[in-house]
Amino acid sequence: MRTIHTLKELRAVLQGYRQQEKRIGLVPTMGNLHEGHLALVGYARQAADVVVTSIFVNPMQFGANEDLDSYPRTLQEDQDKLQAAGNTLIFAPAPDDVYPDGLANQTQVVVPDVSDGYCGASRPGHFEGVATVVTMLFNMIQPDLAVFGEKDFQQLAVIRKLTRDLFIPVEIIGAPTVRDDDGLAKSSRNGYLSSDERSRAPVIHQTLQRTAEALMEGATDYAELEQQALAALTRAGLRPDYFNIANSLTLKPARAEDTQLTILAAAFLGTTRLIDNVSIQR
Ligand code: PAF
Repeated sequence: MRTIHTLKELRAVLQGYRQQEKRIGLVPTMGNLHEGHLALVGYARQAADVVVTSIFVNPMQFGANEDLDSYPRTLQEDQDKLQAAGNTLIFAPAPDDVYPDGLANQTQVVVPDVSDGYCGASRPGHFEGVATVVTMLFNMIQPDLAVFGEKDFQQLAVIRKLTRDLFIPVEIIGAPTVRDDDGLAKSSRNGYLSSDERSRAPVIHQTLQRTAEALMEGATDYAELEQQALAALTRAGLRPDYFNIANSLTLKPARAEDTQLTILAAAFLGTTRLIDNVSIQR
């Protein structure tokens, strides 16, 4: 496995693989890799001959008061994990090479509609930052396929739409969320939790599951279910940001006749904001 920091070198290496007609898979990450990321590499390996994992803490997707500076940067450990996972190349560019004219002068990709609401409402500019860097990575690497986690459900919808709208020839693969034994979705931000916060965190998944069960049993008063869930999270000592039942395909608020539903949640434990979701078909 090789770690590459410049686009020039990456393109030269990828050209060699393309000449051999190898299929190239991309796993975009911000590093600090956990089992969830390594599962994405596993999916990419099944569908591609060469797996490029990008590691780039993208400043454009962080708000002014968010954790850009404290976000863990652990390239050495990430390299060891990716080597063991059978990854082929790491692309770890420097921020100044990705945004040579600075963030303020960067052309942006705006994905309307699916970026609205949920995390888009709580984190203004976040999905523009994600959509911009993912489009840039697609253009830099020109992969045949790219794998993203379903844990970031709205992000996956944003990326599917931008790929479709901009006719980018890349297959998008969504991979199921990897969880700890108690149900907590794996996330780099779990590392911020104190032991008390970590012991409370599984209530997010438990509440999503309880709501999913109620929906499967035929409940249609979505507003009531959402209120009950927000109250359960608050009782457990969390500060809920949102808890909503949505149509899985459009991300619009669910209607009684919808059959594919996704329940989306975000909540703070102390200063750490965690997200999760559960999808059902009924
Ligand atoms: O999901 C993430 O880690 C990031 O949002 C992504 C897709 C790598 C873009 O920076």
